[in-house]
Parts: sequence; structure tokens; C-alpha cells
Amino acid sequence: MRITNLTFAFALALSSLGMNAQNHEFIITPKKLGAPIPYTMYGIFFEDINYAADGGLYAELVKNRSFEFPNPYTGWDISGKVTLMDGGPFNKNPKYVRLAPSGHSDKHTMIENHGFFGMGVKGGEEYRFSVWARVPNGGSAKLWIDIVDNATMNDDQKLCNASVDVSGNEWKKYTAILKPGRTFAKAHLRVWGDSKVTTDLDHVSLFPVKTYKGHENGMRMDLAKALEDLHPGVFRFPGGCIVEGTDLPTRYQWKNSVGPVENRPLNENRWHYTFTSRYFPDYYQSYGLGFFEYFQLSEEIGAEPLPVVSVGLACQFQNSSESAHVPVDELQPYIDDVLDLIEFANGDPAKNQWAKLRADMGHPAPFNLKFVAIGNEQWGQTYIDHLQPFVDQVRKQYPNIKIIGTSGPNSEGDDFDFLWPEMRKIGADLVDEHFYRPESWFLASGNRYDNYPRKGSKVFAGEYACHGRGKKWNHFEAALLEAAFLTGVERNADVVEMATYAPLFAHIEGWQWRPDMIWYDNLNSFRSCSYQVQQLYSTTKGTNVVSLTMNGKSVAGNSDQDGLFASANYDSKAECYNVKIVNTGNRAQSVTLNLKGWKGDHTGKLFTFHADDMDGENTLEEPHKYEPKTSSVTVTAPTYALTVPAKTFVIYQFAK
Ligand code: AHR
Repeated sequence: MRITNLTFAFALALSSLGMNAQNHEFIITPKKLGAPIPYTMYGIFFEDINYAADGGLYAELVKNRSFEFPNPYTGWDISGKVTLMDGGPFNKNPKYVRLAPSGHSDKHTMIENHGFFGMGVKGGEEYRFSVWARVPNGGSAKLWIDIVDNATMNDDQKLCNASVDVSGNEWKKYTAILKPGRTFAKAHLRVWGDSKVTTDLDHVSLFPVKTYKGHENGMRMDLAKALEDLHPGVFRFPGGCIVEGTDLPTRYQWKNSVGPVENRPLNENRWHYTFTSRYFPDYYQSYGLGFFEYFQLSEEIGAEPLPVVSVGLACQFQNSSESAHVPVDELQPYIDDVLDLIEFANGDPAKNQWAKLRADMGHPAPFNLKFVAIGNEQWGQTYIDHLQPFVDQVRKQYPNIKIIGTSGPNSEGDDFDFLWPEMRKIGADLVDEHFYRPESWFLASGNRYDNYPRKGSKVFAGEYACHGRGKKWNHFEAALLEAAFLTGVERNADVVEMATYAPLFAHIEGWQWRPDMIWYDNLNSFRSCSYQVQQLYSTTKGTNVVSLTMNGKSVAGNSDQDGLFASANYDSKAECYNVKIVNTGNRAQSVTLNLKGWKGDHTGKLFTFHADDMDGENTLEEPHKYEPKTSSVTVTAPTYALTVPAKTFVIYQFAK
């Protein structure tokens, strides 16, 4: 009785400190290695939504550089005698402009580009201007190029200037380096025509010289670095719905996205007129960031490339009529696109024209493509009918390529229930599941994969994010619940082979969809709380699941266990263990790690991701406000007592 009272008093004291009185025992059997954790487990999903490509990762600063937008002067101001012409040097982008002398002294013919929400330029850094030009009547002409701050109150708007001398009536590429004297987020680019000579211009471009890995047609440094720092195992591109397009003609056609950038035809962006509340009629795809660049980037950030291709179905959300889709017996060109893509990625340049193009573009070695996803968010019998001939032909010619099908746009429900067995029947290696779901769903779904069949098609959690309801969008709590959910992914590494949070990028001024993992303006970027969670998972991915029980039972993976979620793995390369515990509850929890069969001290690190404010989020102003903290830890075996504070994600990483 006395003891009971004492226990009660102790429990009361703990409770007043915000602690739960009950201790939880996690039994970890380090020697019992479970399923291998695939290299691809934590990856990234890229789609050109929210100005993720043009205006984002793709470092080009000029919008509508080839004058091919439906309104050819979108993004441009013109003054003096500027004429739109047809039949330029690039047959797939035939328009160009003619700059004639104004006919008046002190009047200037000029074109001025506004960039994407302006152009972000940094003082002291170099920018490469390039243009294709000619003097149609022969002879030579001078072009003046300025990067300007046209909002300035100073006497001179120029941040820097340069010139190029154009000669002859053949089209040639001219370049100049500009170095702005100061940083400005909303600069414009001006190109002045010669005051005496008519000049023709096409493909007007401005890139920072410093791009990721220094490629001329390259990626914005901070954004690509953010991807590299994620250590992704897989890189899915180019989407998402953009794969399907608004309709078939506007689907993503990878063949249009390779070869010289000047001759990649413009495509609309299906996100430009989707939401009336976030409407961007000037959002197009230049394809400057195309399939070669995607493959190259995958390689450079160490991720397996995972292209998604059209299955010949126009976006089913937007096109309900069967006539909007390709009849099954007319699918061969679409199937050929997939077969040719595999050659482009892996083929022998001496034997295949697409492989030769890859070599000509600077990558003779194969990209070692292993996966192809066919269709995005498709559903119904029509999807199966369309997918089957793709599977037949890809299997026949490339038996080692893993094929990814889809379970449709929803995380459960009729379409999902119909498609999963069909995917098994058709023999899809992986099935792409999508779930943009609220907090309650994430809290209840840590056990989602516990009872999935262990044989047959595996899971690719290809698009997911916790969508807070009525709260901030990239707030800490959403990220914490994603961390909780991912314990269940990790524990089920024999079923789930890949997971990619979505979407990846968003321009602060140009987003259509949120939350997103990485945000930016023209100059700066920040990594959201969700990014921090993804990074914690991918950098402690491990190579094998390790058996873990909680209070003598298997981890339930839902909030019934005092809000605790957990998983453990072993990393055979780093020779260390990673024990992940997420406390989603409002009270600190005391936990004992029982390391079966172990003795002594094991040194390592403790990663702690915590916020006092569940609505807290990183911002451009405070990009590092919410980041995990790292400290040293010594775990003593066989039992080690620890406390997981409320609303906290911890990872104990310790040596063998
Ligand atoms: O990630 C944004 C969109 O969500 C994707 O394009 C689509 O696949 C899903 O509906």
C-alpha cells in the first residue's frame, strides 16, 4: 500500500514535470539483422511545379529567351524598331527578333527581359550573356548589354554592362561576361541594338558562371547543393502530372528535352492555368532542364535516376472522355519513346542513335538506368489496358529494367483497391503510391506497411507530404509526423523500396502547391522542417533493419503507444546502429534501450529535432531556425535509460 502511494506520488511528480510515469522498454537485438534497406529508400521527387525548373533549379535568368511563348514578347519590354521574325536558325524554335536603328539620333532600339520575378544577381559574381545573332545585310554591328536595376533612384540604372561585336549574315553565337557591382534580386537584362545597323537576335540567355559542377547549361548552386546534401538514393523526374500534361499534346516528351538547348521546343506548363487562386499564365517549360540534365544531376548527387513516362493517357482528372486518350492499338510511338529512352540512358553510342546523342551531349558512358515508371496518377481498367503492352515490350527487350506502375492518386479507396491486385498480376516491380494527407492520417499510419504482402510488387511511396489543416504549411508538426510515419517505412524495408516527399521546390512568389521541401526567392533559399527530417533519414539510412520491440510487443506504429514511434537499423559500412524514436505526444517519455547480448560503452551521436512551437517554420529571414542538433552520446549496454522530450525526433547513432 505504502509502495503504491509512493509510486503514485512519484508518478504525480513526473506528470507535473510533463513526463509520463511509465517507462517504455525498447528491446533491440543488434545481432538480429533484418531485411536489407535498399539504397534507393529515401529519394527526391522533382516536378516543374512552383517554378521549380525555369525560374528555379535551372539557372537561366531569361524568360522566353527564344520568343516562342504564345505572346512572343511575354517577359520582354521592347522599344524602338523591334520586329518579330520567323524562320530563324532553330527549326523547332523558329521565331527571332530584328532590331533596326530607330531612325532618330538619341533614340534607341532595345529589348529588356524581366526574368522570372526579376533576375537575382550577386555583386562581384560573373554572369554569362549569350545570344545567337547576325547582321542580315552583312557587315558588322555592336550590341550593348546591361544588367539593370530599373527601380533605382541612382543616376545610372546599370549594375554592369558589356558589348559584343556581331559580324556577317550567318547566325553565330556570341558571349560576354558581366559582373554586377552589387547584389539585386529584381534585375532586368537590356540588349541595345546598333544605332546604325540592323541586327537579328535569337536565344538570348544569361546564366551565372558559377553553377552546380560548373555546367554552362547548369543548375542554380544553392538549390542543387540542397539536393546533394540530402544524399538521395533515387531521383524521380520529371513529375507528377506534368508527365501527363493537360492533354496528350502537352505531355512531357523527353525527346524534345534533349539535344542543343536552342532547339528544344517550348511546352506549356500544366500548372500555369490550373488554380485560379494561384494563376501564372506566363509559366512555360523551356526544357532547358531536360532529360540529359536530369540524368547528369542524378549521377552527380549520387541518386539512381527514375524517369516517369506517359502511358498514353491524358491527365484523367482533366479528361474524362476515352477519346482524349491514345487508343491501345495506337500506342506504339509511346512505347518506342520508352524503349528509346532506355537506349538514351544505357545504350551503346556506336549502335543506337539515342545513345549516340547522349555521347554527343558529353556523356559517352551509360547512365546505368535501372527503373522506369509508366504512367503517373492513372486509374481504372483503361490504365491496365494501356500499361500491358508497355510491360510486354520493355520486359522482352530489357528484362533487367524495373517497371513501376501506379495505385492511382489516392492513398486508399476503390481505385487503390482495384489497382494493387492488377499491378501484381501485371508484374509491376514497384507500385507508386501517393498520399498528401492530414496530420491525423500520418499519426494513424505508421503501421501502414506492417501487413502488406511480403511477396510480389514492392512499394514506391512516390509522392507524399503531411498537409496540415488550417495551419501553416511547412510547420514543424507536419515534419514531426512525417518522421513518425517514416519509422514504419524503415521497419518495412522489405516491402517499401523508395519514398520521395513531394513536391520538392517552390519559388516564394511563384508557387501553386504547398507544402514543399525547399523554398527560395531569386537569391536565397531555405530548407523546410520536412527537409530536415528527410535529410536525417537519408543520412542514417543504414543497410539492414534491426529487430526492435516495445514493451514486449512489436511496435504498433500508431499513437496508441504513448505517441511513440520507433525503428532501428544497422549500417554495415559505417559499422554503427541508428535507433530512431519519435515522440509525437505532449509529454516527455522515459525509455530504456535494452541492447540484447551487448556489454560496455558504445560511443556515438545523438541527433535531436525539436521545436517548442508546433507551428514554427523556417523562412527566408530565419532559414536555420529549426534544424536538428547534434551532440555526443555514450550508450551503455545492456540497458541504457533515456528521455525523449515531447514533440521530438531523436536518433541515437552508436558504434558496434
Ligand atoms: O506534387 C504535385 C502533384 O500532386 C503531382 O503532379 C501529382 O502527381 C499529384 O497529384
